[in-house]
Amino acid sequence: MTTSPHIVTSVDELQKKVRKALKQAQVQLNAQATDDARPRHSTLGFVPTMGALHDGHAQLIRRAREQNDVVVVSVFINPLQFGPGEDFDRYPRTLEADAALAGEADVDFIFAPTVEEMYPDGEPAVRVSAGEMGTFFEGATRPGHFDGVLTVVNKFFNILKPAAGRHLVNAYFGQKDAQQLALVQRMVADFNHSVTIKSVSMVREDNGLAYSSRNQYLSDEQREQALVLSRTLALLREQMIAKGPENFDLSAARERIDSAEGVRLDYLEMVDPTTFKAPTADSTRVLGLVAAYVGETRLIDNMELL
Ligand code: PAF
Repeated sequence: MTTSPHIVTSVDELQKKVRKALKQAQVQLNAQATDDARPRHSTLGFVPTMGALHDGHAQLIRRAREQNDVVVVSVFINPLQFGPGEDFDRYPRTLEADAALAGEADVDFIFAPTVEEMYPDGEPAVRVSAGEMGTFFEGATRPGHFDGVLTVVNKFFNILKPAAGRHLVNAYFGQKDAQQLALVQRMVADFNHSVTIKSVSMVREDNGLAYSSRNQYLSDEQREQALVLSRTLALLREQMIAKGPENFDLSAARERIDSAEGVRLDYLEMVDPTTFKAPTADSTRVLGLVAAYVGETRLIDNMELL
């Protein structure tokens, strides 16, 4: 049976509800405990989103549900991470459908604050800086984007952590936004946030298209055209397995994407996924990263090449 999650819009109410739900979960765990095994602490799973939930989010939410006693999903379109001329105003706002998807996954609370609730004094004067890693790739095309992401994620953690108290908080981020994931992990380490970041592999449609809320902007024809991104990454993976990472040349792959009908390449690169710099001899993993415009819609994708 699915139940609708409670939609909470205020920070204060969210904190009260989370505190109470974790306490109730603890009572149940204590009641189930046997004499020889001490009960574990109940845990909070947090999935930050901007709504327009799709199967990629559903995967994050399912993982949070499996691993935690209480689950909060935030639905907040964070103005700080959109640049001038980006799609903040037309970003899909689908709270009812989001609540239905969250209900199917048995989420306890949706936190859907207004912009005024999150930023009561207007744009915050003090922001988290994403540093050098925040200026590469997505950060180069979208200056300030990652400062905005980290500022809001930092706020979410600061809202939830005191409510959770001694209970562990696990926060779920998708590998689709690989640079965001790496930066959030960096922030947690640099700021000593006592939140565990769980990275969840990305979900693709059967044809290979990576799920994204922005896929909603694509026509059927553009969805077909967008497949060149995942197909090129898959081809690169095959080539890298065969040839190894040394002196690997991306020019043919770049040309393949840029010359595809309806597609304009922004970047195609290989990076070490922890630094987002070119892989070195010490890199144990190599990530292929791509961003391209399909029509007016900018899509990103990535794949572990090694
Ligand atoms: O990945 C997203 O949807 C957003 O960047 C996040 C993490 C919810 C912050 O607004």
